[in-house]
Amino acid sequence: MYNFAPSKQHKILEVIATTTELENSLMPLRAKGLKIALVPTMGALHHGHLSLIAAAQKQADVVVCSIFVNPTQFTDPKDLEKYPRPLEHDIKMLAEAGCNFVFMPTVEEMYPSYPEPENWKINLGNAEFVLEGEFRKGHYQGVTQIVFKLFNAVKPNVAFFGQKDFQQVLMIKNMVAVLNLDVQIVTCPIIREEDGLAMSSRNIHLSEEDRENSLVLSKALFFIAENYHRYSLEDLLTTAKQIINNVPGVALDYLTIANGDTLLPITTKTGHNTVALIAAKVGETRLIDNVIINWIVG
Ligand code: PAF
Repeated sequence: MYNFAPSKQHKILEVIATTTELENSLMPLRAKGLKIALVPTMGALHHGHLSLIAAAQKQADVVVCSIFVNPTQFTDPKDLEKYPRPLEHDIKMLAEAGCNFVFMPTVEEMYPSYPEPENWKINLGNAEFVLEGEFRKGHYQGVTQIVFKLFNAVKPNVAFFGQKDFQQVLMIKNMVAVLNLDVQIVTCPIIREEDGLAMSSRNIHLSEEDRENSLVLSKALFFIAENYHRYSLEDLLTTAKQIINNVPGVALDYLTIANGDTLLPITTKTGHNTVALIAAKVGETRLIDNVIINWIVG
């Protein structure tokens, strides 16, 4: 499906558990002037992750994928406990994709005082507190905390994230700006199943009926994107919400047409920087998705 371009430096995937081991392996490569890419993940890899690996291979000489189910970004302990961890399958996928290193630290490696919390608090701007930030309080402090630690461990030149977690990418870019980090952030497009469902590690939890019902998320977003110039913002949202409310078993958390920097709902249409975002519980599984309606870079 993807055009993988494994680097010639390291043909075989190396599995690494500690930052010391990682540094020992990466230091000589860095010294040779090779460009290092990081693809941070929580595992349960799917084609969305593979598209990040393929993009990383195109832009860097060495690709490191991290797999770490980060406890500090979970607001619900049950969600953390049931997060899928198919490690053997993940390693096989990365090896087949020609990824060079997989960094799989323990919780103690990343958080030496765990479960005692560390003192991490960073100003991510007001966009931290809306949408996901409202439903998952403190989530983006946890995400930026671990991404910062991963950046410290890998010292990548460039890091790749999926657009599916639109707000997450914005928060990470804000962290990079606030801390003046020397790492380029690349956002890769959402990879969807043929029927439109955005790929996610959580899709594994969907029952057959939930899987069918979950299609309504992308359907509502596509309706907004396709009819953006035809209807008013209010009518777009009303109809899209009706599409969702018609499906039993789907409980909407939010559906918004927002400014891509502030994540606040737009009140008038503009020709740039507009994104529609959705979050809903489908059965017991909470899913998020988004579509960029229009975007002008720079
Ligand atoms: O998107 C994810 O999988 C996680 O939030 C990330 C970026 C790996 C941090 O734990």
